[in-house]
Amino acid sequence: MKNLLITGGAGFIGSNFVTYMLNNYTTYQVVVYDKLTYAGNLDNLLSVADDPRYRFVKGDICDATAVAQAIRQYEIDTIINFAAETHVDRSIMDPDAFIQTSVYGTYVLLEATKRFGLERFHQISTDEVYGHIPPGYSSKETDKLDPRSPYAASKASADLMVNAYFVTYGLPVTITRGSNNIGPYQYPEKVVPLFATNAIDGEPLPVYGDGRQMREYQYVLDHCEAIDLVLHQGALGEVYNIGTGVEIENMRMVEILLDELGAPRSLIRHVADRPGHDRRYSLDIGKIRALGWEPRHTAEEAIRLTARWYRENEWWWRKIKSGDFLAYYQAQYGRRLAEAPTTAG
Ligand code: NAD
Ligand code: DAU
Repeated sequence: MKNLLITGGAGFIGSNFVTYMLNNYTTYQVVVYDKLTYAGNLDNLLSVADDPRYRFVKGDICDATAVAQAIRQYEIDTIINFAAETHVDRSIMDPDAFIQTSVYGTYVLLEATKRFGLERFHQISTDEVYGHIPPGYSSKETDKLDPRSPYAASKASADLMVNAYFVTYGLPVTITRGSNNIGPYQYPEKVVPLFATNAIDGEPLPVYGDGRQMREYQYVLDHCEAIDLVLHQGALGEVYNIGTGVEIENMRMVEILLDELGAPRSLIRHVADRPGHDRRYSLDIGKIRALGWEPRHTAEEAIRLTARWYRENEWWWRKIKSGDFLAYYQAQYGRRLAEAPTTAG
């Protein structure tokens, strides 16, 4: 493993992973292959832009010719696939691109892995493929997939295709299923960066429903370390859950965030819920722990670190929260906020 094609590497987790790998492996070449959708952003990669071991290719993973050309040109031996449409609310508004990228695009990358005899194909997946989980239980890698949103279904479909290529063609694949990542460079449509940037501006925080839904908020660099471990020590054909092992209610996340930013609870607005909202995700992380990995940050530490990063990096998010983002925000929240009671719940 020395020449990595990191698809979706200009997004949130992908760009953190690129920087992490260049910092930790001096002999690796890293090629980011990214379509630069609304969520892809070369500002995320500014710190490595002048590194001679890093290259950027603008391309779509659904374009088999362009994928093959990148593999040939850079003598790629490993693909790590972060490319996806990733926001559940957008998948409810319009699922088409989710299906294109995660289902057809993953198939294109698997075919390329087979054709060029690559050493490894690693798929970045999510805890959402298990569906919502009743209290007292944590999802194991062998559990049945039960996705409930178009986003989750597109990711579960990709996982099934990756497994099919392992079983049928013996492709050298691995899959990791991560919980909710937070940290630097996350597009401010996701709840933590949206709420942090709204709180900095004194704008309301639209909490869906009662806010008692539970998520495992994990620091993005912990996730990157675990992916690195699976790449180097994971067993082929296997799936590894990556989380903190501890889930918290969204309302608790909001309280920590507001306290860290010194913002008032009166910014909280309970708004109409997300359709089909999964109440709880929870991962059993025994399998990745057995490889020797432990999360370095609790959810509270991750939320505080993230809030501080957004406070200190307005240069990054102010230009995003304009133009197309405002149209999205209005479509997603305009009516919800107009109909919400104004007192904190
Ligand atoms: P993101 O939305 O920030 O970035 C996605 C990146 O993929 C963008 O740079 C975008 O331009 C690129 N992309 C989209 N469609 C593409 C295509 N057809 N061809 C090439 N590039 C394309 O996403 P993220 O939050 O960094 O998530 C990365 C991966 O991790 C996704 O597969 C996601 O499902 C998974 N994941 C995310 C989380 C999370 O909490 N954010 C948790 C678990 C798993
Ligand atoms: O669990 C992993 C998944 O985490 C990833 O696979 C997805 O790509 C990523 O988007 C994320 O999905 P969620 O739907 O859990 O994340 P989101 O940040 O959208 O929402 C987190 C929780 O906060 C969820 O319970 C919904 C709630 N929420 C979200 C938004 C955007 C609100 O209450 N208000 C909001 O405005």
